[in-house]
Amino acid sequence: MAKKTKKIAVYPGSFDPPTDGHLNIIERGAKLFDEVVVAIAVNSSKKPLLTIQERLKTLKVLLKKHRNVRLDFFENKLLVHYAREKKATAILRGLRTVQDYEYEFQMALANKQLAPEIETVFMMTDSGLSHLSSSLVKEILSLGGSGKNLVPPLVEKIVHQKFKK
Ligand code: COA
Repeated sequence: MAKKTKKIAVYPGSFDPPTDGHLNIIERGAKLFDEVVVAIAVNSSKKPLLTIQERLKTLKVLLKKHRNVRLDFFENKLLVHYAREKKATAILRGLRTVQDYEYEFQMALANKQLAPEIETVFMMTDSGLSHLSSSLVKEILSLGGSGKNLVPPLVEKIVHQKFKK
């Protein structure tokens, strides 16, 4: 019998910081694919609060319970080239609101042109999480607000510490 090929998806993002919204997509993605590679990527248009190391350390703890989720980071390369290296056949992205659509549509089309064999798979973010973004979380936490229902307690602690410095 022919060996079944593993279905691998890359879930890329800045994760600065990771939120409940990201974790929701990862959890659901892990049920659809044999393996999900959560890849911290450097978005050159953003000035991050957390270093790559801090994001890796945090996500490592948060993703520990998922047996088919791997954690990684990449920079100075295209997402599709990275996905090919990982033998991924899909790029997983979350869609929150219609505002996401245009940006995601453009990125998906560009990636498709660059690597036609890789599909972008969109997942609607669960309704209670669709208002979330990493920037919103940073603003709320920087002004002393609570991270409850936005980020895991560990992320809240790390971001608070960062703002105290
Ligand atoms: N729940 C909550 N928030 C979510 C979310 C979800 N399910 N999905 C996305 N977001 C938020 C993020 O928190 C982030 O918020 P912020 O803008 O306040 O930081 C925002 O939506 C989108 O960010 P993210 O998903 O992290 O992606 P990005 O736009 O920062 O980066 C890359 C996109 C990394 C995938 C893209 O820049 C890339 O591919 N880079 C590699 C180079 C490359 O190939 N470029 C060509 C691409 S065509």
